[in-house]
Amino acid sequence: MLNRICELLEIEVPVLEGGLAYVGNGLLAAAVSNGGGFGQVGSAGRTPENFENEILVASEATNNPFGVNIPISQHTDFSPYLEIIKKHRELIKAVSLGAGNPKNLVPYLKDNGLLVLILTSTAIHSVKAEKLGADVIVCEGYEAGGSNGPSELTTFTLVPQVKQAVSIPVIAAGGIVDGRSMAAALILGADGVQMGTRFVATEECEAHTHFKEEILAAKDDSTMIMTRMLKGPLRVLKNEYAEQVYESEKITPTLENVLPRVRGTYNKLAMLDGDLKGGFMSCGQVASLIEEIDSAETVVKRIAGEARRILAKAQALF
Ligand SMILES: Cc1cc2nc3c(=O)[nH]c(=O)nc-3n(C[C@H](O)[C@H](O)[C@H](O)COP(=O)(O)O)c2cc1C
Repeated sequence: MLNRICELLEIEVPVLEGGLAYVGNGLLAAAVSNGGGFGQVGSAGRTPENFENEILVASEATNNPFGVNIPISQHTDFSPYLEIIKKHRELIKAVSLGAGNPKNLVPYLKDNGLLVLILTSTAIHSVKAEKLGADVIVCEGYEAGGSNGPSELTTFTLVPQVKQAVSIPVIAAGGIVDGRSMAAALILGADGVQMGTRFVATEECEAHTHFKEEILAAKDDSTMIMTRMLKGPLRVLKNEYAEQVYESEKITPTLENVLPRVRGTYNKLAMLDGDLKGGFMSCGQVASLIEEIDSAETVVKRIAGEARRILAKAQALF
């Protein structure tokens, strides 16, 4: 399955782990990379010290390339994280940037010899990201867990439009969970896929067991959108906490009312500490298709293998 994203990132199969706030730990990133994919250490929800430590953990646990993720607006000051990336630039292959304007960060990262992946949710923003010097576009549809783009485009419609609009490699994210969805994304024109929710339900992910069990128990309608009125829809698992935020946002749709309820501490409480009533859990629509907690290495190999077999049989479909 050698294609241009594999060549660029020096990986065996075009399967990326997306940044995962609070739960994108070093061992998980290493396991994804050991499976031949591209793991990423998350920075959201981590102190700079903890972020650095997880980079070191990942580099100890794999000899394969991996990256890191910076969701720009989730850091009040991202300069310490940039310093750490610079310090360990020999260990890191690429940096993915999302949730904010990446304009000033791209030259800094490229000057340090890093590849830059920019997350987008529309074709227009993908064109802008290419002009800024991105090496790869990761376009994420509205099926995805966590922050969604305000335009709420689905992966199915987004990928072909982004593919048509840019010439750099395009990674599809949102709604990808198995060989079928990976094959579909490649047929739509993606050069590779990124998954988030699937990698939470793995042995190496440091998410709390309660959160992983909620993913296994999820049905097709188990996720919902919060904070749509803030123009930053957030896809989460339905629970009492999320329903309360949603109801409150309907009655008082102001930043002052909603923002304090969706602070990272409440995300951490449910996803990392396992207090399912005390907070909210980012989760994609694919959750209901996840049936077991596997090793992330196995997940990558299995999904890529399934996709290959499906693509080989595709001409017999009609
Ligand atoms: C628990 C969780 C945390 C996430 N945190 C981040 C993050 O910190 N930065 C980011 O760029 N994307 C984040 N995402 C989005 C993922 O990187 C990925 O693009 C998305 O999950 C893909 O859709 P899927 O959930 O259908 O696989 C998160 C997703 C989940 C499920």
